[in-house]
Amino acid sequence: MNIVILSRNAGLYSTRSLVNAAYRRNHDVRVIDHMRCDLVIDKNDHCVYYQGEKLVGIDAIIPRIGTTATSHGSAVIRHFVNMGVYSTLQSSALLLARDKLSCLQALTAAGMDVPRSIISKDYYAMSEMIERVGELPIVIKMIKGTHGLGVILSESKKNAESILEAFHKSKEKVMIQEFIHEAKGADVRAFVVEDKVVGAMKRQARPGEFRSNLHRGASSTIINLTEEEKFVARKAARVMGLEIAGVDMLQTSKGPLVLEVNASPGLEGIETTTKVDIAGKIIDMVQRNVS
Ligand SMILES: Nc1ncnc2c1ncn2[C@@H]1O[C@H](COP(=O)(O)OP(=O)(O)O)[C@@H](O)[C@H]1O
Ligand SMILES: [Mg+2]
Repeated sequence: MNIVILSRNAGLYSTRSLVNAAYRRNHDVRVIDHMRCDLVIDKNDHCVYYQGEKLVGIDAIIPRIGTTATSHGSAVIRHFVNMGVYSTLQSSALLLARDKLSCLQALTAAGMDVPRSIISKDYYAMSEMIERVGELPIVIKMIKGTHGLGVILSESKKNAESILEAFHKSKEKVMIQEFIHEAKGADVRAFVVEDKVVGAMKRQARPGEFRSNLHRGASSTIINLTEEEKFVARKAARVMGLEIAGVDMLQTSKGPLVLEVNASPGLEGIETTTKVDIAGKIIDMVQRNVS
């Protein structure tokens, strides 16, 4: 197969891991920067140019689109799919997953449990909304944040109001969310490939920190998920329309709450923690779908 990995940086762990897994299976593989892809929209000559070269003969793309490239990245994916190229990620699913609000709406519409969340465009209603979301402390979250940046724990109503005021002033979209104490600064990442959980880890935030992102210095350990957790992770990926997904859940006595679903989940944390060849599972999935 002729596989293209859409990635801005060939040196990133996830990109390298996918390249190696493809090589090991004797595929031709190339890393292409989606931000340097020019799209020709013409029904007789629908094509992609990469740094002046017309791309032909590609069987599959594996998009690894960072949060700063969502818009053009999704257009590039759509273009390849329109050209008949198999993609491990659909542009509509990427766009849905990148918006925390739309993601939670889709999950709850499908009957899934998430932390109670509120969004309001009316700044003056904020004070009341803070009371409505749950007991203090509460979580304030940027809709388009990532790696735990823009996720804030606010201990008092006054403090929450000041933070919301600042976000409102800078026109940053945010939501407020009930704080799940029971999670104890940990979350569970389930990695789903084609409706199967292929690996899972528990991430524990550093002491004094509630965000369990590895980018925020959290530690990770391999974990055996309950049947319910596996079911919830697979369902969340399905609801979002993702063949490959990193589903983050908070563990509570009432069962898992889905926090978010990542469309371009990193491979480094999950592969090094679980020792599972996740990249290999992704290439195998591509192989099944192309042949
Ligand atoms: N409502 C919440 N209750 C408890 N912990 C939370 C809550 N929301 C987020 N967290 C913690 O903060 C981390 C980052 O939040 P998340 O919504 O996943 O944003 P990001 O996209 O930046 O990773 C989570 O992994 C979790 O550990
Ligand atoms: Mg997260």
